[in-house]
Amino acid sequence: MKKRILTGDRPTGPLHIGHYVGSLENRVRLQDEYDCFFIIADYQVLTDHLKETEQTEQSIKEVLLDWLSVGMDPAKSTFFIQSQIPEIAELTMVFSMMVTLARLQRNPTVKEEFKTSGLHAMSYGFLGYPVSQAADILIVRSNLVPVGDDNLPHVEQTREIARTFNSIFSEVFPIPEAQVGEVARLPGLNGQKMSKSMNNAIYLKDTPEEVDQKVGMAITDPARIKANDTGHPDICNIFKYHLAFNKTEVSDIEKSCQQGKIGCVACKKNAAAVINAFLDPIREKRAEFEAKPRIIKNALRTGIERTLKESRETMRLVREAMHFNYEDLIDGKNFIAG
Ligand code: TRP
Repeated sequence: MKKRILTGDRPTGPLHIGHYVGSLENRVRLQDEYDCFFIIADYQVLTDHLKETEQTEQSIKEVLLDWLSVGMDPAKSTFFIQSQIPEIAELTMVFSMMVTLARLQRNPTVKEEFKTSGLHAMSYGFLGYPVSQAADILIVRSNLVPVGDDNLPHVEQTREIARTFNSIFSEVFPIPEAQVGEVARLPGLNGQKMSKSMNNAIYLKDTPEEVDQKVGMAITDPARIKANDTGHPDICNIFKYHLAFNKTEVSDIEKSCQQGKIGCVACKKNAAAVINAFLDPIREKRAEFEAKPRIIKNALRTGIERTLKESRETMRLVREAMHFNYEDLIDGKNFIAG
């Protein structure tokens, strides 16, 4: 039996090249070796986008097209939408009793996300979303969770919850392992974390013109004013893109920059060209899938069906372990006749 993986994305819009380097590429590779479940976590978007739910359906479509166009394959893996699996909400209810408030309040990712959310106060669901994420992972009894390092606290929380449940009731859940990709996170065009909200991302669906324009505007080594100033590739955002997408030229570019032999304009043109070359086949596949909505429909239908089947089995095991099986009671068998 193949080991199981669960991972996925929040549908907040199209995915960017940072997602590719940090996780999508890895997912494509893992599909043969593991039984992969990929979640589109729409409930989790409510934490910080509660009033924009009319955009969620479109974002789900974007994520699905991005997934398909990079080679995540519904013939090998199971795609599903979080809100279509009611058992996840049920399991969240059970797990919520196994986490202290203090434990949730220590989660560094939740704290950081709240800070950047611009919200004035934190909802119960925002503080508790790692519990819901534990249910995402454990509803299919997943063994491995490939994530970015920002999600490590959530996987740690998931492990604690699984251990707690197993020790109070019985061994229903595996203790899942996190797997963090080795690639350093790609910076955004301005050097901060690449994200939609920062407006500093290159999207997988960007046109060649958009990529040229965005890379042309990117911030490089601020100490370089003239093209022949000596540069510092180690602090340059564009150099990070060469590292990720320009394996053959990257060491030459590093030297040329340090010696002031290549200017930022030429270096950026080169970076935009290699990013476009990388994106071209992805764009092509995206256009193919856009023309065949039936593939998306079938991927979701069969993915949701399979996830429901696994989730119902997990909840059956959970209820059994918790002595929440009331068939006899409901059938009236537990009452003394009379
Ligand atoms: N929190 C993840 C992110 O923002 C998305 C996510 C939701 C997830 N549920 C998950 C990731 C379960 C891994 C496993 O990127």
